[in-house]
Amino acid sequence: MIKNTKEAPVKITRNVPTKELLEETAQRAIAYLEGLRERPVAPLPQGIGRLIQLDQPLPEESTPAEATLKFLDETCSAATMAMAGPRFFGFVIGGSLPVALAANWLAGAWDQNTAYYKATPSSAYLEQVALGWLLNLLHLPSDCQGAFVTGATMSNFSCLAAARQAVLKRAGWNVEADGLFGAPPITVVVSEEAHPSLIKSLGLLGLGRNRTIKVPTDGQGRMLADRLPDISGPAIVCTQAGNVNTGAFDPIAEICDRAHLAGAWVHVDGAFGLWAMAVPSMNRLTEGMEKADSWATDFHKWLNVPYDSGLGLVRDHEALQAAMAVTAEYLPTPGQFRDPSNFVPELSRRARGVEVWAVLHSLGRQGVISMIEQNCRQARRFADGFRSAGYEVLNDVVLNQVLVSFGEPERTTRVIAGIQADGTCWCGGTVWHGRTALRISVSSWATTDEDVERSLEAMLRVARNVAD
Ligand SMILES: Cc1ncc(COP(=O)(O)O)c(C=O)c1O
Repeated sequence: MIKNTKEAPVKITRNVPTKELLEETAQRAIAYLEGLRERPVAPLPQGIGRLIQLDQPLPEESTPAEATLKFLDETCSAATMAMAGPRFFGFVIGGSLPVALAANWLAGAWDQNTAYYKATPSSAYLEQVALGWLLNLLHLPSDCQGAFVTGATMSNFSCLAAARQAVLKRAGWNVEADGLFGAPPITVVVSEEAHPSLIKSLGLLGLGRNRTIKVPTDGQGRMLADRLPDISGPAIVCTQAGNVNTGAFDPIAEICDRAHLAGAWVHVDGAFGLWAMAVPSMNRLTEGMEKADSWATDFHKWLNVPYDSGLGLVRDHEALQAAMAVTAEYLPTPGQFRDPSNFVPELSRRARGVEVWAVLHSLGRQGVISMIEQNCRQARRFADGFRSAGYEVLNDVVLNQVLVSFGEPERTTRVIAGIQADGTCWCGGTVWHGRTALRISVSSWATTDEDVERSLEAMLRVARNVAD
């Protein structure tokens, strides 16, 4: 096609200096964060209504960056859920520690593609240092390798890719080279209460969402170790540290002892529960978890860094590297320093390790321990408050999760809707072992004891006002 030479040249607007734009954006972000403590946690309908202003055709002409940012803030900030605030107790979602957010901003400015040390020394090295600190914090062997990925789904995926590699290698099969067609079958064992994202990871890896052997659980959602099947040949056993409803831990040490006798790989999905390994007072939950072969967790949950950020840890570092490493003529060859892309599914990626390093540097071991202990203490306070008011707490509160029933399922559902509409705090609902329940997860550094009392008071007020 011949170009119309009369067309006006496209203008790229550079009329706002970067410094002013970024300073103004920082002011907007600060105002947003400062407003979180008092605004309703769920977005109000009028805030959500403003999103309709986004329905515009693709602009033909440029807009000054300052105007774009103003429009973005004024149209969208009110339609956010206050997940970064102190009284969001939905799903399992942490906030962002100020130091983590600040490091995220700095790393954003660096704009490093953290694939190779040679190209991005600081962000690659920060990741390496953070990995060493994490292994120390979690009392895991110092020669484990790690995948800094988007979250626990991809952490599980990365660990299970290493597991698949290793168990098939032992059976004389190279899955990276030859795929799964014609490979020796792998027995995959999961809990009846495995997180759905772990099941999805198995599907992505060609191990099948439905061809697992499911092990029954007890009244808290823990896998029954004595119901593990007899295992032979290549096998992977997936355990869980932190049931997404109850916070319960599978008996991982016992499962490792049994599964390892049969040569199976044991994986731990510890999306939030793995952080308990850092906490000496939680030893009774975590004892023996270090016997496993791989562990997945999230940074965006309990380490309170911005989305998205997770970690897969693998004892057999060669298996992780064999599953993930990329080689090509134009890419740097392995050197003395760790190349992050050798351990993750992506090649190009943001510098996730920067925020993780910053949190560990700033909080230190004791700071991480107190953050986790504080949230668990706050969860127990919620449970005591509901019990004292005559409501049934369905789970043993061993970690940060609390399940509350307000009677009949319909009544509980109405109480949950009332709590969400009230706006003081936000919690979701669940159906667990056939019981409809309010599900509280305390995972944020920002939650004070006063926030807990204020939320409890609001939830009990709503519950009292909902008719039977
Ligand atoms: C036990 C467990 N595993 C995996 C996940 C998935 O984590 P992500 O959403 O970070 O991928 C979750 C999320 O809540 C979880 O609780």
